[in-house]
Amino acid sequence: MDGAALVTGASRGLGAHIARRLAADGRPVAVNYLPDREDAERVVADITRAGGRAAAFHADVTDEDDVTALVAAVEAELGPVDVLVPNATGPQPVIDAVDVTWQDHLDQLTFFVKSPTLLMQAVVPGMRSRGGGRIVQIGSDLFERSAPGMSAYSAAKGAQLSLTRTWARELGPWNITVNVVAPGWIPVERHASMDPRYVEAYRREVPLGRMGTPAEIADVVAFLASDAARFITGERITVNGGHVMD
Ligand SMILES: NC(=O)c1ccc[n+]([C@@H]2O[C@H](COP(=O)([O-])OP(=O)(O)OC[C@H]3O[C@@H](n4cnc5c(N)ncnc54)[C@H](O)[C@@H]3O)[C@@H](O)[C@H]2O)c1
Repeated sequence: MDGAALVTGASRGLGAHIARRLAADGRPVAVNYLPDREDAERVVADITRAGGRAAAFHADVTDEDDVTALVAAVEAELGPVDVLVPNATGPQPVIDAVDVTWQDHLDQLTFFVKSPTLLMQAVVPGMRSRGGGRIVQIGSDLFERSAPGMSAYSAAKGAQLSLTRTWARELGPWNITVNVVAPGWIPVERHASMDPRYVEAYRREVPLGRMGTPAEIADVVAFLASDAARFITGERITVNGGHVMD
């Protein structure tokens, strides 16, 4: 099971680190992006410079036709997809529960239920025919934190966890494992303008006494994608320095 890894939304943030880490383990890596081509090409260049193999693929992973074309293009260029990491996210607005609309829910479910489902359906036939595969979803510990204003995001992350466990049961007989890595707050590019006092207040609540790094999420994804995790499925590993313990 040393085929390609497909990481969605991998031109920046956690996805870029996950892509670099999986490539460092020797896998060809598909760096999916929308719309940041230059950023995606930079991730590919980093990987190539380090001796790995990667290519950038433009696709809206919430669109059925795009997902079908994406997986076909990845397989044509990098070979069969053995590892799928649905990582992409859209905006995560803070909205009071009394103001949340059904469209707000759909916006989150589109990323955390629709897109992973489309991707899973596109890669699983190949994984089955090759005797196995790995799906590593990116969840969030906000599901337990129940943060005010984040009900739509948290509910969609809960739905994503439920999907993961059901898929783990259904796909287990084909040696396809399905797990979730649930990060705590891991500052990435989109958090650059965050008030440092807010970061400090969060940090003080973390038992390990510091903010986590994207590399620490990528390490756990790489573990779940590796042979060492071959008997782990339907699990959720929270990576948050102990901030919330489930
Ligand atoms: N960073 C954190 O603190 C944190 C915490 C918990 C969970 N997460 C989860 O980690 C994952 C990555 O988050 P991040 O913080 O790196 O976000 P990010 O915004 O840095 O990265 C998301 C990427 O997805 C891309 N994208 C958006 N719409 C897309 C689409 N339709 N098709 C393809 N790509 C698309 C964006 O362009 C971006 O490159 C998400 O699932 C998020 O919920 C992040």
